[in-house]
Amino acid sequence: MNPEKQPKRPIESMGYYNITPEQATAEEKERELDQMLERVLTSEAAVKINEGNNGIILELDTTNLPEEVRDYFSENSEDDSEEDEKVALKLLKIYTGTEGRHEYDLQKKARRVLKEEKIEGVKVPKPRNFRELVITSDDIAKHLKSLGIKIGPERIVEIISMDLVPGQDLARLMYQAYVREHESEFNEAYPDLDLESHLQRIDVNSLINLVHHLAGIKNKYSNFDDSPQASQERAQIARTINQDIAYKGILDRKHADNLSKAISALHKHGIYHRDLHPRNIMIDEDGNLEIIDFGSAKEINPEKDSDVKSVYQSGPEHTRPSDRGIISIVKQLSKTEADREQETRISRLGDPETLLAKLSAKKPKIWTDFIAEVKQKQETEDFTSEDVDKIISLYENLFGRGSDHKIRIALLLEMSKLGRKEEVINYLKAKIETENSRNKQYRSDFLINQYQSLLDFLS
Ligand SMILES: Nc1ncnc2c1ncn2[C@@H]1O[C@H](COP(=O)(O)OP(=O)(O)O)[C@@H](O)[C@H]1O
Ligand SMILES: [Mg+2]
Repeated sequence: MNPEKQPKRPIESMGYYNITPEQATAEEKERELDQMLERVLTSEAAVKINEGNNGIILELDTTNLPEEVRDYFSENSEDDSEEDEKVALKLLKIYTGTEGRHEYDLQKKARRVLKEEKIEGVKVPKPRNFRELVITSDDIAKHLKSLGIKIGPERIVEIISMDLVPGQDLARLMYQAYVREHESEFNEAYPDLDLESHLQRIDVNSLINLVHHLAGIKNKYSNFDDSPQASQERAQIARTINQDIAYKGILDRKHADNLSKAISALHKHGIYHRDLHPRNIMIDEDGNLEIIDFGSAKEINPEKDSDVKSVYQSGPEHTRPSDRGIISIVKQLSKTEADREQETRISRLGDPETLLAKLSAKKPKIWTDFIAEVKQKQETEDFTSEDVDKIISLYENLFGRGSDHKIRIALLLEMSKLGRKEEVINYLKAKIETENSRNKQYRSDFLINQYQSLLDFLS
């Protein structure tokens, strides 16, 4: 549903207190405020930015609102003594159910924990207030319904307000990065659309569909299908795309460390978020992470083992990444192109360092002999690539020819570390050339790849 299509009331028409606040009783004041809030929800100052499982999300610009309403949204939630920066943009999360209070309370606690534990780089958006609002006007009830809020017979809606994080959630950033990377495919598929403005406007679900389209993947199931088959297919698609997204360097390692500390701090205080995934992590303009959406969170006694176990035993987190899972996602997102190269190398070579350690531990006598022989040759002036060849062949045989030429690669690596890098590089170049000049049926492309990988590694 397009929020722009909704009839919006101009701010001037919202009215002010009918009675002078000085005269009004506390109760009357509250009722007046309720009515003004009702009108604010349908005013042009409020824009729907999201539809979630629990209700809807409005962004509210309080700049031109009547002072009383503005004050209400700038109120500091109890026990929060910090200096106020008077942020004009608020986020209203409007619940259809009755879990709002719980979410608000846990968000408040979580914010306090991260502050008290002095966690760096990770925050929880400042919760401002929680209110149960009885919708009295039929017009406004209709308007809210058209936004996706189901209003029950009691006509009560729950509203959490908090400071808007000036940034994006990680899911959006990930998908945007992916689409930008595939700009030419995008332009081909949508010649009439401008990429940048499209990315700014489009909601996350459409963004996901767009990414699937660009990646040539068809998801048979809708985003709201919760069946095991649908979840499985989504997970498979996510893995495929995440491989690609992982190297965009959206975050750095510091982010992963900070987030990990933040989650541990929350757990220490008995707060389990239980719905941590990229859409519930915001990254603000200064690069700080903000954990949002405590709608599935649970508070337990951290001293009681049975309580701690119960956190992971039931609830929606079964099909979603757990509090621990997000760390690996964030680590993935902090990879760079250099990491990608390193990983391909390792996956082709095996990790040469590991193999090296294994060889030396398995046959230490042969290993020390090998090292001694290389060192001794070092004293000779002319150490040719034939010498390299001889030593390598000899020790490869002594070690008992490993599969995939990995022993040879490990020996070459060690030799280059012993001050014979130049010679090893020349040896590799020569080998690649000879191997390439062989007849197709005798040539080992695999061996060429291995040599090439080591060559890349050393150069
Ligand atoms: N404080 C905030 N500032 C800015 N955007 C927010 C904030 N809280 C939520 N959002 C945006 O709204 C989306 C939905 O909010 P969330 O609290 O996760 O609701 P739900 O419970 O429906 O998932 C988030 O993924 C994020 O993009
Ligand atoms: Mg959410």
